[in-house]
Amino acid sequence: MADKTLEQRIAETQDRFDRRLLEAGDLEALEAVRIAFLARKGAIGGLFAELGSIAPEERAAVGQALNRLKTDATERLDARRRELGRAPADAAPTDQDITLPGIHHPVGHPHLLTIVQQQIEEIFLNMGFDVAVGPEMETEYHNFEALNIPADHPAREDWDTFYVGEDLLLRPHTSPVQIRVMERSEPPVRVICPGRCYRRDAQDATHSPVFFQVELLWVEEGLSLANLRYVIDRFVEAFFGPGYETRLSGDFFPFTEPSVQLHMRGPGETRWLEIGGAGMVDPAVLAGVGYDPETITGFAFGFGIERMAMLKYGISDIRTFLTNDLRFVRQFRD
Ligand code: PHE
Repeated sequence: MADKTLEQRIAETQDRFDRRLLEAGDLEALEAVRIAFLARKGAIGGLFAELGSIAPEERAAVGQALNRLKTDATERLDARRRELGRAPADAAPTDQDITLPGIHHPVGHPHLLTIVQQQIEEIFLNMGFDVAVGPEMETEYHNFEALNIPADHPAREDWDTFYVGEDLLLRPHTSPVQIRVMERSEPPVRVICPGRCYRRDAQDATHSPVFFQVELLWVEEGLSLANLRYVIDRFVEAFFGPGYETRLSGDFFPFTEPSVQLHMRGPGETRWLEIGGAGMVDPAVLAGVGYDPETITGFAFGFGIERMAMLKYGISDIRTFLTNDLRFVRQFRD
């Protein structure tokens, strides 16, 4: 009779094992599969017993196939046992531990200085001002001469300036942006110019060699110091909210006449904090950019952004803006 060869039966046993393994849905069923195939009297064991009856020259190859079947079946049974032992009965079999906590991907946010700058821009955009920017590396002309501060003027000492080259410096204030804006436009001009400034100042709680200012410039016929005061008060109200006091005192800047200094203090505070300078644009500056100072008037201010942020958020040391201590940075989200 055309008996099936041992090899054929090995293949069939493999198929049967695969099917039964797939069907075994719990540990008990799995144990039944193990007994049926791998126990000493099981299907695979029976095949081993027959090895002796085949021709010696075929024995090695068939024996290897049988060994592979046994090892493979044992490994897959073990693997399936581990799966069934761990996962709930209705979950898809998986090697992943779904009880592990997830991986946290921290998402950054703008720095407080950026947030404050955006708040300031929004307030002035709503009042009808444009936002202008200028270079941080400036010429002496835009930074000094055009602002009515000639080379030998003692007022240059008020801006302790980092020079980069003969005629190039890191701007110590945002006022040169006033000049650049007026050079390219005709009155009326209404802009704010926020930006980074540099000074060779010694660091302390209220001074930093790198800081931000926001410049404001409004040029038109018939403006007065009263308009400047009004704009400052509307801004303070919108940016700080109620309870903040402002005070203007006399000051001197070569590019404004008269010149004032803005001081502020928060609710319940006794000390005034200097926020920055302001004044009516000096006629010489207007003439320098080709405006007629007989008819055109203007006012400007340059306020320290860190100082205003310190007042609004109760920050006592300007250096904390730059040290990048995350405990500081993370307190301020918009
Ligand atoms: N640029 C001046 C400073 O940084 C401030 C200022 C700006 C004063 C505009 C008057 C008008 O000290």
